[in-house]
Amino acid sequence: MLQQIDVRMPPLLTATGICKAFPGVRALENVRLQIESGEILAVVGENGAGKSTLMKILAGVYTPDAGVIELDGRPVAIRSVKDAGRLGVTLIHQELNLAGHLDIAGNIFLGREPTWGGPLRLLDRGFMDDAASAIMRRLGLLASPRRLVQDLSIGQQQLVEIARALSLKSRLLILDEPTSSLTDSETTLLFTVLSELKADGISILYISHRLKEVESIADRVTVLRDGRNAGELQRHEINHNGIVQLMVGREVKQFYQRSRGDGARQAAVISVRGLRWEKSQRGIDLDIAPGEIVSLAGLMGAGRTELAETLFGIRKMAAGTVAIDGKLLRIRRPKDAINAGVFLVPEDRRVDGLILSDSVKHNTSLASLSLLSRFGIMQRSREETLASAMCERFNIRTPTTAQMVGNLSGGNQQKVVLAKWLSRTPRLLILDEPTRGIDVGAKSEIYALMDALAHSGAAILMISSDLEEILGMSDRVLVMHQGNLAGSIDREALSEEAIMHLATGGGAHL
Ligand SMILES: Nc1ncnc2c1ncn2[C@@H]1O[C@H](COP(=O)(O)OP(=O)(O)OP(=O)(O)O)[C@@H](O)[C@H]1O
Ligand SMILES: [Mg+2]
Repeated sequence: MLQQIDVRMPPLLTATGICKAFPGVRALENVRLQIESGEILAVVGENGAGKSTLMKILAGVYTPDAGVIELDGRPVAIRSVKDAGRLGVTLIHQELNLAGHLDIAGNIFLGREPTWGGPLRLLDRGFMDDAASAIMRRLGLLASPRRLVQDLSIGQQQLVEIARALSLKSRLLILDEPTSSLTDSETTLLFTVLSELKADGISILYISHRLKEVESIADRVTVLRDGRNAGELQRHEINHNGIVQLMVGREVKQFYQRSRGDGARQAAVISVRGLRWEKSQRGIDLDIAPGEIVSLAGLMGAGRTELAETLFGIRKMAAGTVAIDGKLLRIRRPKDAINAGVFLVPEDRRVDGLILSDSVKHNTSLASLSLLSRFGIMQRSREETLASAMCERFNIRTPTTAQMVGNLSGGNQQKVVLAKWLSRTPRLLILDEPTRGIDVGAKSEIYALMDALAHSGAAILMISSDLEEILGMSDRVLVMHQGNLAGSIDREALSEEAIMHLATGGGAHL
C-alpha cells in the first residue's frame, strides 16, 4: 500500500513581520505576505498604505528594519537589487527603467551581453537577436529585436522589461501599477501575457488602484491599510465592495455625484473657434457653459493633451481664437491663461505639476501665491492653514505639511497637485486624467469637488481614459480622433459604445 505523504510544496515566498520606518512615518508594521508558485496575488490599499515600500523591500531596493523573507521555505537575505535578481525576484517600476537609445535585444541583455572569441569578448549579436526574438515571441511582442526602445509605445516598453525579467529567469515578477499609462488594448495584451506566465509557474505580485483589473486577474487579494495587513480575499470572495471595505475600513459614499444646474442656457465661459496647433488639423470649435462638466474622450494620441496644453499656453496656437466670458484672450504662455482663470492639472504630474524637492505646504500654495500674500508678503499662517485643510480634505498622507513632496507615495503626490489648483477658484478648470493612480476614497472626494466647482459656476473640461468616470461625471462628451473633434455626445445619448464609435474614427465628421 502506498503511504500518503504530504508533498505540498512550500510557498514560493513568505514575508513575515516586515517593518519599515521613514523619518516621521511608519510605512510598514509587522506585515505578512505570502505567494505561491504560479499565483497572481494583487496587493491593494489606499494611497500611502505601504504597497510600493513592501515591493521595494522584496526586490532589494530597501532593506526592512525587521522581518524575515523566505523563499521555497528557506530564509534568504535580500540586501540589494542584485541579490533579489539572483533569487529570481524582479520589480518592474512604474517609471520604466530602460535605455531608450539601445535596441530591444540590447536592453534585454543589458550588462550580460553574450560574447564569443574568448578574451576578445566580441558581442555575439546573432545569438542575442535569436534569444531576444524567442522571448519576444513568447510575449507577443512583434517587433525586430533591433528596434530602438525609444521608438516603442509604453505598452511595448513594458513588455521589454518583462522580457528582460524572463531572460533573468525570474520566478516572481512584481508589477507596481503597470497599466496606469497603457491603452485598453495594451492592457488586454498584458493580461494575456500574465496569464501565460502564470501557467508556466511564474508568480506575479500585482499592484493596482483599478479594482476591475484586480477582479479580473487576481487569484487572491491582500489588502494593506496604514502600513498593516487589513485582510485577504480568496478568488471567490473578490468583488469591488469587499475590497473597498477592507481598504478604507468603511463604505465609500456615493461615488459619482452631479448636481445639475441650468448653466447650459447661460453665455459660455469659454468659446474656442477654429483652434489649431498643427497646420494639418481642421479647426476646433468648443463652448463650455458655466456649471458644465465636459469630458474629452479619445484614444491615446488623439490630441486631447495637446488641446489642453494649447488652451493653457504651453503649446503654441497655430490659428483660431479663444474667448473667456466673452473677452478675447491672447494665450502665449501659462501666465496669460492663469490670469484669465484658466487652470490645468497636467497629466504627467511628476514632470509638470510639482517641485519634488519642496514641501507639501509650498507646493499647494504655489498657485495661490497672490491670494496668500498681502502687499507682496506671504502670510505664513494662511499658507499653513490652507495646506492643512487640503491635506485633510484629500486625506493626503504626510507626517507634516513640511514633508518633501518627493517622499510621498505616488498617489499622494498626485493629490498635492490637485489640491494646488483646486484651492483657487477657476473659471475654466482643465483636468488631464485627474484620478489616475488615486485610491477610491480620494476619487470620490475629487468628484465631489468637481461637482462643487461646477455648481459655483466654473466650467470644467476633463480629459479621461476611464469610460466609467466619463459616463458618471459628464454633462457632455467631446470625442477626439487623430487631432480633430470627431463628435459631441449629449448626456442623454451617452454610452460606452457611442464614445468608442467616435474615438475609433467611425463617426460622421463635425
Ligand atoms: N523615501 C521615503 N521617505 C520618506 N517617506 C517615505 C518614503 N517612501 C515612502 N514613504 C512613506 O511611506 C508611506 C508608504 O508609501 P508607499 O509609497 O509604500 O505607499 P503606496 O501604498 O505605494 O501608495 P500609492 O498608492 O500612492 O502608490 C507613505 O506615507 C510615504 O509617504
Ligand atoms: Mg505606490
